[in-house]
Amino acid sequence: MKNSDQTFSLQDISPKGLERSRKLTHLISSEIGATRQQVIPFDRFMSLALYADSLGYYVAGQEIFGAKGDFVTAPESGDLFGFCIAEQCAEILDENDVAITEFGAGTGALADTIIRYFDGKISVDNFNYSIIEPSPHLSQRQKIRLSKINSRLADKIKWYTTCPSEGFFGVAIANEVFDAMPAKRFTIQRGEIKELGVAYDGENFIWEIIECSVIPELIRDQMSNYPEGYTTEHVETQGIWFEQFKKFMKRGILLVADYGYVNQDFFHLDRCDGTLRCYFKHHLNDNPFFAVGLQDITTSVNFSYLAECALSAGFAVDGFTSQAKFLIGNKLGDHIATLSVGDSVDAYRVAQEAKRLILPSQMGESFKFMACSYRLEKNMSGFADNERFRLG
Ligand SMILES: C[S@@+](CC[C@H](N)C(=O)[O-])C[C@H]1O[C@@H](n2cnc3c(N)ncnc32)[C@H](O)[C@@H]1O
Repeated sequence: MKNSDQTFSLQDISPKGLERSRKLTHLISSEIGATRQQVIPFDRFMSLALYADSLGYYVAGQEIFGAKGDFVTAPESGDLFGFCIAEQCAEILDENDVAITEFGAGTGALADTIIRYFDGKISVDNFNYSIIEPSPHLSQRQKIRLSKINSRLADKIKWYTTCPSEGFFGVAIANEVFDAMPAKRFTIQRGEIKELGVAYDGENFIWEIIECSVIPELIRDQMSNYPEGYTTEHVETQGIWFEQFKKFMKRGILLVADYGYVNQDFFHLDRCDGTLRCYFKHHLNDNPFFAVGLQDITTSVNFSYLAECALSAGFAVDGFTSQAKFLIGNKLGDHIATLSVGDSVDAYRVAQEAKRLILPSQMGESFKFMACSYRLEKNMSGFADNERFRLG
């Protein structure tokens, strides 16, 4: 596979990082060696590379976010994104009962902004914030950051590693969580759909076809008659995720924000290498076998499939729109004005942040918002220009 921008090498990595990557490579190659066919599905490889105990990318404790890490998410770049999400939560929720659950909270940046938005607007007794974070390292990092907020609302945050069993009434948020879920890969070989797996040649991981795999219905429907070599991804576990989420959500709305496409664009013939990509120190590449455990591996979200999973689990899909339209609908202009009141440096920084969030060439169009509700109907200003029909 070609690497689009591999201007870095293993020499750029610290000895500690290399040692961890070696241990993780040994763990994964041993698992491959223990299989009958000497190959594991790609989603298993991705799961170990990102989440293996103490070694995986999201759990090992290296810097992931921001300038010193590998990528910058919207909540990391300033308060605008979080204030607009908080605005949407305020519109949905009764001010006497503001309950928010955030999945995969990263450094805690979004929670930080949302808490500061509600501080002074509502009473502490009427506020609850839960974070569901599978990475022990990241939840520790979130606790340290959020303990520094000067607001009594921050005392109401609770942490969980998976959905708790008690029911939830409120707004749930998942920003850039679904793109971090392990994906299967499928390709057309000699006119047939085959699953791609990962083997080990003694030095490197290599792609290998898995024989006798079960091809998901969506992949069969979309890829039949596609050209030789066409490759794509599918995150099967999103269906299971919604089934589990359903046990937790008693009444409320889930806001999903992520990069991705509807079916028609996800399976476009031009996207013949799929959407798999990796981030290492802000360099984009398409080689998941480079520096295993030290770089992010991600795929774009198929929002049509995600909506299908939500519907099958009993949710309604109420809204789908671009990030730009969602933020503008949630008073982005007002928040830009408020945050720009300092000196010209503040105004410049906020303008740059706004441009990054809404320009079509940056995050404005490629990132989408989707709202899934359960037993709660609400008008949401973020979805005033609702493109739900595009989901198919
Ligand atoms: C790309 S980061 C995004 C972090 C943060 N939401 C942000 O926007 O900065 C992905 C996050 O999702 C978490 N994650 C992955 N799978 C998850 C799951 N099934 N449930 C909850 N969080 C998950 C990761 O541990 C990590 O915190």
